[in-house]
Amino acid sequence: MKWTLGKEELAPRRRLIRCVPLAIAAIAVLTLLTACADAEEPVVTPLSAEEISGERLWERITDESDYTTWGFWPDHDGYQPGQAPHGPVHRIFVNRPLLSAVPLAERETPNGSVIVKENRSGDRTLNGYTVMAKVDGFAPATGDWFWVNYAVDGTIRAEGSVGGCISCHSGMRDNDYIIAYPLDRTVQ
Ligand code: HEC
Repeated sequence: MKWTLGKEELAPRRRLIRCVPLAIAAIAVLTLLTACADAEEPVVTPLSAEEISGERLWERITDESDYTTWGFWPDHDGYQPGQAPHGPVHRIFVNRPLLSAVPLAERETPNGSVIVKENRSGDRTLNGYTVMAKVDGFAPATGDWFWVNYAVDGTIRAEGSVGGCISCHSGMRDNDYIIAYPLDRTVQ
């Protein structure tokens, strides 16, 4: 039995070995492209009252469950005209646990519901994000919502039980503090 290979015998093997990383790279690129083509909202465990923070929620809505893979309220998709203080144009993204739960006869959203609102100027320039996350036990007196106002780069402007957010959204307390969409609405 021969244990070493001559130069001529090695050459084709080297070529083959060089092809392997290329093939792996090609497969990786293809997988990535397919993943992007039908990016699906991943299933994630809701953040707990101990875990929740503006920083942690930012990770959740960008890395772990990119909010742009979420859906919109029925009949409220894409860019919509909005009101102060959120700016004249917005997009409201609603995560799957909430979107798949509507219509909600009791108008009570499930734990783990997250709504991301992009706040934009009239020319659609993004100015920041306002986010509501439902966290069991976080703030029972105000619907257990965790509120955050982020700058475009994720810098936190306000977080937690933010008085300003709550005072305005309290007008819709009987719709679980949600203004743009009646939770019990049935869409044909
Ligand atoms: C002066 C009133 C007011 C204040 C203060 C306010 N909002 Fe809103 N918010 C609204 C209105 C009105 C809407 C409905 C969409 C629209 O018209 O822009 C809304 C919509 C939202 C939505 C989409 C879900 C929904 O309720 O329809 C989120 C998320 C949100 N606001 C988060 C916040 C956060 C976080 C803060 C505090 C940093 C805040 N808001 C402060 C008035 C307010």
